[in-house]
Amino acid sequence: MKLLKYVLVICFVFISAVGRADEGMWLPQLLAKLNESHMKSLGMKISASDIYSVNKGSLKDAIVSFGGFCTGEVISDKGLVLTNHHCGFGSIQDHSTLDHNYIRDGFWAKNHGEEIPNPGLFVTFIVRIEDVSNKVLAGVKDEMSENERQSQIDKNIAAIRKGVKKEDYQDSFIRGFFEGNQYFMFVTETYRDVRLVGAPPSAIGNFGKDTDNWIWPRHTGDFSMFRIYAGKDNKPAAYSPDNVPYVPKRSLAISMDGVKEGDFTMVFGFPGRTMEYLHSAAVDQTVRVNDPTKIAIRDKALAVIDGYMRKDEQIKIQYASKYAGISNAWKKWQGEVLGLTKTNAVAKKQAYEAEFQKRVNANGALKSKYGDLLQQLELAYKELEPLGLQRDYFNEVFSKIELFSISSQLNQAMNAQGKDNYETILKRTQDRLKGIYEEYNAEVDRKLFAALMEVFYQGLQDYKLPDSFTKLLKDAGGDFNKMAENIYAATTMDEEQKTLGALETDAKTRLEQHKTDVAANLFSDLLTYFSTTVSGQLNEAQDKINRLQRDYMRAQMEVFREKTFYPDANSTMRVTYGKAMSYEPRDAVKYEIYTYLDGVMEKYKPGDYEFDVPEKLRELYAKKDYGKYGANGKMPVCFIARNHTTGGNSGSPALDAYGNLIGLNFDRAWEGTMSDINYDPSICRNIMVDIRYILFIVDKYAGAGHLVKEMKLISKKK
Ligand code: ARG
Ligand code: GLU
Repeated sequence: MKLLKYVLVICFVFISAVGRADEGMWLPQLLAKLNESHMKSLGMKISASDIYSVNKGSLKDAIVSFGGFCTGEVISDKGLVLTNHHCGFGSIQDHSTLDHNYIRDGFWAKNHGEEIPNPGLFVTFIVRIEDVSNKVLAGVKDEMSENERQSQIDKNIAAIRKGVKKEDYQDSFIRGFFEGNQYFMFVTETYRDVRLVGAPPSAIGNFGKDTDNWIWPRHTGDFSMFRIYAGKDNKPAAYSPDNVPYVPKRSLAISMDGVKEGDFTMVFGFPGRTMEYLHSAAVDQTVRVNDPTKIAIRDKALAVIDGYMRKDEQIKIQYASKYAGISNAWKKWQGEVLGLTKTNAVAKKQAYEAEFQKRVNANGALKSKYGDLLQQLELAYKELEPLGLQRDYFNEVFSKIELFSISSQLNQAMNAQGKDNYETILKRTQDRLKGIYEEYNAEVDRKLFAALMEVFYQGLQDYKLPDSFTKLLKDAGGDFNKMAENIYAATTMDEEQKTLGALETDAKTRLEQHKTDVAANLFSDLLTYFSTTVSGQLNEAQDKINRLQRDYMRAQMEVFREKTFYPDANSTMRVTYGKAMSYEPRDAVKYEIYTYLDGVMEKYKPGDYEFDVPEKLRELYAKKDYGKYGANGKMPVCFIARNHTTGGNSGSPALDAYGNLIGLNFDRAWEGTMSDINYDPSICRNIMVDIRYILFIVDKYAGAGHLVKEMKLISKKK
């Protein structure tokens, strides 16, 4: 046993020394201090201050948070923004009708006048980043409860933000890093007039759809284009037809040279969330409990929706983005479980913990602070397990049954009755219900109810569910389909006219009915069950873990002084860098770094939902008509590298050693989707669409060459 541990530690230390090479999501303002020499040793030809500077224009001035959920970058001095097709999809869908089906056919504005506004869409630039840890943590004491601590922090944050030096049109926010051991402030500039400029047809922008999602080799042209508009003074302004294209401080130059194996690449963007510093017990729980539970529930949901989408065109349109969302995480979790298992993530963490404990025990001061920290963490995760499982069941099941979303909206209006803001809430309820019904089919929802309630019941057999639930099931003779039929026959929430319609003619009467609606009551009983028997304990357990993980994070940094730590992703601006690199997913198989248009044609299935290829693209391929965008007679499509990315990095620019744009990040490869928890350089790869393919589609396929003329194209080869 001892020997085994020893071997594991050796393995780990070895792996981590090599592996750290390309791991990490780094804060741009700290690159000069922490990463510059490493980046240069990997081949970077620019300096850290070319990437981030507050005194001069730098690359960061060309990067935006796109709508708060993706990344985008400015690629012309007229405010042209590039992001993914799946990031712009909401806008593309909003403007699509049966006559102008931009999802199916694509869309290209021929001039500024044809660019389409998108109410609600915004892009945010980062002006500067400051360490405000001392001020945020002032007055925070160890003995405080998590609640006390948070309210002290909130108070400090409010005060700091009030005093921040910034222009009127700028804003600021403060975020915790390293589990709340450090705090940084971001001064931002947000533009809210962002117009759709162009998008390829889905057969290019989402080629391969769900089958190819998370998979390398990939052949998707996952891009779309927008333009930022500003007031005449170039400052942020609400939408107005008088607004003008924004003139950026910086736009990215585009390299036509691509990369080759081993070349330096970096990705600059807004990664959402990672968990790299968990206790092994947490990783074990993810693999054994949480991921499998969520996957099993989504299996059922997807089977129901897919069955209907395949046979009904209307349902296919209505449920397309819901389906894509459910399946995206479902597929990722499966890859995550495989990857964590294959790379022995739990054993690796355990070996790391053994080394941590050894060093702590050997040092009196560390021992008194952190001597039993790991033990406490393990216990806390044990306590969390049953609660986390129930949370997963509730979250997964409830978010997929629309009857419950409808009920939740009606509850809000009902509870607002007699209050000052009633009219506002009622209006909001109506708007949201409208949105829900647009993508709603009662039969699909009823089948989802039956399928998901059954998993829910089976999964939570050890717990005492509310009486109303068991009674409804008993009345249906224990048959979930029958139970669903009874409920959907009795409720009126499944009918738009009887709900939204009735709300518009006589809200009072409709809200009165809601009080006796069988589905509404079931929903509220289940919510009460959750809030009385789960959420209190769950929050307590989670608070305990947050506190312990915060200590553990600090402890790791004290104990492993030889390591350079990067903070987990938290939707703030990061730089990640690494080499373009092939990999071996399994025995005797090697994946190269580039895919080509030839591969699109290999996958081509005429008329197929996922793998059809537009005629024009087939023609261009047949004639090898790639213009200046081809390379050695071939058309590069996608490529991979060892950049450490996650959700939110979609639309992030991939830059070469000179900081020139070479591609657009949009996915990760299947074998490495566990990188959110355990990055492993041997199999973790991010997937980017080559900028030359994007330009080829814009220019040769869509005939929108005027957009390419706005950009700055460079080549060192020619
Ligand atoms: N997997 C990528 C991401 O996490 C792409 C998702 C969009 N594409 C899709 N086929 N659903 O967002
Ligand atoms: N597709 C993801 C996104 O929307 C990026 C892929 C990943 O998770 O790494 O941000």
